[in-house]
Amino acid sequence: MTTLWDPLTLGRLRLKHRLALAPMTRSRAHPDGTPSALAVDYYTQRASLGLLITEGVQPSDDGQGYLNTPGIYRDDHVEAWRPITTAVHEAGAAIFLQLMHAGRMSHPDNTPHHRQSVGPSAIAAGVQLFTAAGMQPVPAPRALGTDEVVATIDDFRTAAAAAIRAGADGVEIHAANGYILHQFLSPNANERTDRYGGSIENRTRFTLEVAAAVAQEIGADRTGIRLSPGSGAGGLDEGVETNDLYRYLVAELAKLDLAYVHLLHTGDEGLLRDLRAAWPNTLLVLRAGRDRGVVQNDVEAGLADVAPLGRWALANPDVVERLRVGAEFNEPDRATFYGGGAEGFNDYPTLASATATATTTEGIRP
Ligand SMILES: Cc1cc2nc3c(=O)[nH]c(=O)nc-3n(C[C@H](O)[C@H](O)[C@H](O)COP(=O)(O)O)c2cc1C
Repeated sequence: MTTLWDPLTLGRLRLKHRLALAPMTRSRAHPDGTPSALAVDYYTQRASLGLLITEGVQPSDDGQGYLNTPGIYRDDHVEAWRPITTAVHEAGAAIFLQLMHAGRMSHPDNTPHHRQSVGPSAIAAGVQLFTAAGMQPVPAPRALGTDEVVATIDDFRTAAAAAIRAGADGVEIHAANGYILHQFLSPNANERTDRYGGSIENRTRFTLEVAAAVAQEIGADRTGIRLSPGSGAGGLDEGVETNDLYRYLVAELAKLDLAYVHLLHTGDEGLLRDLRAAWPNTLLVLRAGRDRGVVQNDVEAGLADVAPLGRWALANPDVVERLRVGAEFNEPDRATFYGGGAEGFNDYPTLASATATATTTEGIRP
């Protein structure tokens, strides 16, 4: 039986165990899209996770959805990511930048250019989004022209190349959680009549063309992709065809021989088994909100190769050690998830620092 503690080859990487850092937006970049120096510490503190998938990083200025998220489409972005990738490598981990284009899940208040967002069709998400002025309804996007979809594919391609120039080991294409690629997959957000709308083949075309372009640019073995079958995030509804859509999509992705598929699994167990069977390479499966006692189950059952960790890793830089020795976790502080500075970002204690504090306290007792 494979356990969480067995090593694994993923693309060009040799990983020591089966845990990884899940992508998490922290909204602490500079308004120009350069990640702040704080991110060097944040990521290196979590190096024991082995594979670090970064926060969503926009591949273009239209791709930005939230305040102060980093980009990877200008030279200054590349320069600002380099100290992060260098430090992570020195700390012994690998780093994949998550390429995230928010599409319609954006607000003019959240972007430096204040333009209307873009999406498959001019249909509002019908949900609220965090902005500098608090929660606001997400406005309807402008529908991308067919030529603009093609241009966006190229944005992903050049962003992937820029990520590699910045020293990343690869990229994860974000096709999950209600953002642009997921919007194209969902009939209630995509009413297009061109080759990117309508049938399953057409709705998956954008995602598949992005994956092919990125793989061609940087190598399939440095390309991962995140999917969230059945997720209603961002007001999406994939409809009755969800399972057929993902079976088709994963079978087509398999032809591209990408390094990994990363599933945010919330629903159908039968679909998960089908996707596992259809996917020959590394499979990352994250069951959101699972209990600690079951984190190893999918790997041990052969349903997953890697178990990425989100909030536990956010709040516990040494989550790997804590899992290994059975130590308690720090609680994540929701108030500091998005925005701000070091608080709730770089200052979660490790077991070692807690012990050091305890020792100091011991030491000064009379
Ligand atoms: C603060 C925060 C930010 C997140 N940002 C992203 C993101 O940028 N990209 C993404 O794919 N998922 C994002 N997620 C989802 C996580 O990757 C993960 O799927 C989710 O937290 C469930 O896993 P968990 O129960 O281990 O926390 C975010 C989650 C949190 C808590």
